[in-house]
Amino acid sequence: MSAHLKQDEPDTSNRLDNMRQGVLGKPLSRIDGLAKVTGTATYSAEYSPENCAEGVLVTATITRGVVTRIDKDSVLSMPGVISVIDDARLTTRAAQGTADEAPQQSPRTVCYWGQPIALVVAETFEQARDAAKHLKVIYRENEAAPVSPDLVEPKEHEDETVRQGDLARAMSDAAHSVDIAYTTKGHASAAMEPHAAVAEWDGKKLTVHASLQMLNFNITELADALDMDEDKLRLVSRFVGGGFGSKLGVSEETVAASLAAMELERPVRVVMSRQQVFQCVMRRSETTQRLRLAADKDGKLTGFGHQALVSNLPGETFAEPVLQSSHFLYAAESRELKLNVARIHQMTAGSVRAPGEAVGMPALEGAMDVLAEKIGIDPVELRLINIPEEDPEQGLPFSSHKLAECLKQGAEAFGWDSGHREPRVKREGEWWVGTGMASAARVHNVSEAKARVTLKPDGTCLVETDMTDIGTGTYTILAQIAGEMLGLEIDKVLVDLGDSQHPRGPGSGGSWGAASIGSAVYVGCKAIREELATRAGTSEAELELAEGRVVGGQTLTALLDGDEISEEGHYEPGDIKDDYTASGFGAFFAQVRVNHFTGETRIDRMLGAFGFGRVLNPKTARSQCLGGITWSIGVALTEALEFDPRDGHLVNCDLAEYHVPVHRDLPELEVVLVDERDPAASPIQAKGIGELGMCGGAAAIANAIYNACGARLFEYPMTPDRVL
Ligand code: MOS
Repeated sequence: MSAHLKQDEPDTSNRLDNMRQGVLGKPLSRIDGLAKVTGTATYSAEYSPENCAEGVLVTATITRGVVTRIDKDSVLSMPGVISVIDDARLTTRAAQGTADEAPQQSPRTVCYWGQPIALVVAETFEQARDAAKHLKVIYRENEAAPVSPDLVEPKEHEDETVRQGDLARAMSDAAHSVDIAYTTKGHASAAMEPHAAVAEWDGKKLTVHASLQMLNFNITELADALDMDEDKLRLVSRFVGGGFGSKLGVSEETVAASLAAMELERPVRVVMSRQQVFQCVMRRSETTQRLRLAADKDGKLTGFGHQALVSNLPGETFAEPVLQSSHFLYAAESRELKLNVARIHQMTAGSVRAPGEAVGMPALEGAMDVLAEKIGIDPVELRLINIPEEDPEQGLPFSSHKLAECLKQGAEAFGWDSGHREPRVKREGEWWVGTGMASAARVHNVSEAKARVTLKPDGTCLVETDMTDIGTGTYTILAQIAGEMLGLEIDKVLVDLGDSQHPRGPGSGGSWGAASIGSAVYVGCKAIREELATRAGTSEAELELAEGRVVGGQTLTALLDGDEISEEGHYEPGDIKDDYTASGFGAFFAQVRVNHFTGETRIDRMLGAFGFGRVLNPKTARSQCLGGITWSIGVALTEALEFDPRDGHLVNCDLAEYHVPVHRDLPELEVVLVDERDPAASPIQAKGIGELGMCGGAAAIANAIYNACGARLFEYPMTPDRVL
């Protein structure tokens, strides 16, 4: 049986608030945590079917041109070598969801340095790696390829341009204005688990264990890449060691392992090296941004301009959506937004950790701080007075909006001093000490989702969906939602994820996972409750379940009487998507110290206050925020991809040279979860959390650096050489 909910209206009469079990909203630890920390959680590369061969990818050592010949004989006689796969399908690139959009990426055409072009398969990994190193590839290089955005004429990106009122006029009439350029560097997703796939072909069906975020799309991408029917494929992704965008689409290791397994008729494992993950999976584009802010004498914005230049390969449709939250964050009558894209031959630019806001907000919120100083107003106050009543471009109401509460509660919890803010006032020994703040915003998305919920005769529950848990807590929150709805402790709920044979979930991406798949489980459980209510002689709305029984009545096992009840919950975002602007909001506060002699910045304290609708589990939610804040520290201080200006190859391609902040870099981070329900955002009244914690935090640090030592910087990351 199945139950379908297409949300067209806000869901205000929410069941979840009146349940009796009391398991939802509890700060439970992740139910998969024990398996992970004891090493019993099997990640993709750890599947070892009998007779498994090992494959190593070979990547291009030119920037742009044609592979004229791959001399397979150069390695086929090496020890253990089984085959060299250079099948045309390997690099036609369903990879990263760009199959149709980048026709120039054929196996014989190289578009960027590091592009995978072949797979060497051998009996052992070492043999494959050795042979891959020795494989002779003959190229014909094309004319010099532009590898830097400075060298090309950018083009306007469609659908992003906004022009309202007269910004130039607003700027010239303004009592106070700023016109500043910011730059941000490219970023890597930098997931801990490298890309990995183990493929098995039984002559009829191909089963691939791969580390992926979005099985619902990935199965179609893989079918396209292999030119096969989807029903001959099974993708399994039970545990994923982080994705952060890099595993949204199928990459070459998965395609290559699949091709090799079918050709050789034996299982094949392909794991990318750390360097390959960095060099060929995906990058966040570098950005150049111009912020124009015009304000009246009291600080009310009258003009708002944000334009950005990003880059990508020719033919790719993705452009870092830098302006995403600038469309609605602050009111201003005159508005100008524009996104330009430069076509260059560096690796594909795609979604990396909070695409858009992760780099757009640090620039916008840095400029807001400059404006606050010019006006002589408390920066928190400047944000508060510019919060719009409704979406300033679309005229739509907000689904719910907690920016003001986040700013106030955050300031209170941090102990923000709203007094006069002069830079270079406090010094402790070698260290200048200062504070800064910034707003956070990240658009909220939901996506169609299906999950099967089965209540078994023994009173346990099984939840099945192809949804993944990339370390975010999906297993746990789904057990909590089902447990709450059906009156069960979570140890009575088994959650089975990451198998393409299950109903299609929304995948883990764009922070839409929990709200989308949680709603599908909610819908499935509600249908089961209908059936239970009928059996118990009451209505679903009246049915109270807890501890495996009807409260004051029969046990579930008695009600089931040997039957199981199985319902496929199907949630679809309906017209409501067009009726509201939906976003998570927040506020960051930071205290930093900057070394007078070395320019080194250390974070003393950092706090984020966030509102993202219903908190399903305060512990996993807080952990998401901690991760986000940590990334924002990376944007502010350490993370930068460095490309060689001659051939566009990535220079720093490991976690030592590309530094994501680690525990040693972090102070105690504080998180304030602002109470919110968003009935228009999703049927479970929850919004996205995952990426919000990253969106703007870097500006709180930049603003604190200025307040500490007086260095007003416009380039992220703010490394010591820039601070000095
Ligand atoms: Mo996210 S960058 O959509 O995984």
